[in-house]
Amino acid sequence: MRVAATTMVLFACAAVLGACGSQGIKVAKTSPYHHGAVLFRDHCSGCHTLSVVGAQGSATSIANRVKTNGPNFNIRKENVEQALYAIRNGGFSGAIMPENIVVGPNAQAVASFLARYSGVQAQKVPSTNITLSTK
Ligand code: HEC
Repeated sequence: MRVAATTMVLFACAAVLGACGSQGIKVAKTSPYHHGAVLFRDHCSGCHTLSVVGAQGSATSIANRVKTNGPNFNIRKENVEQALYAIRNGGFSGAIMPENIVVGPNAQAVASFLARYSGVQAQKVPSTNITLSTK
């Protein structure tokens, strides 16, 4: 019984990993973001996760994370300015991510692609407007 259960789990893992490996770019070839998606897959996916291009470079667990694991863009939202800043300066810290992996129009294409597709799985946090009173 236990062997059967273990086998089931292993098969499930294999299926999940297999599915991840075969994920391609899900941005239509006709989309204005396709070029940026290809550039992102080619230059950024080693260190960042973003499922729309099948990228899995971010850490999945504290136990097996490595220094080059960058933020997971399924969850973290970036705008164009932030993406361009990170591309030009090597992330926000300048410590690990290389600078200028893509430049010029290619940097623009990656930045607009990232701004459009990042943060789509971010949790919606309920918020309350607070009016500050000085009196
Ligand atoms: C060698 C690994 C590596 C590669 C390749 C890489 N990054 Fe990064 N990136 C990181 C790490 C690590 C951080 C977090 C530390 C920091 O911000 O400096 C980061 C941070 C960022 C941030 C800031 C995120 C935030 O909100 O804190 C952005 C945006 C970003 N990367 C975009 C990109 C893009 C676009 C590419 C491809 C052109 C790319 N990265 C390639 C490792 C990498």
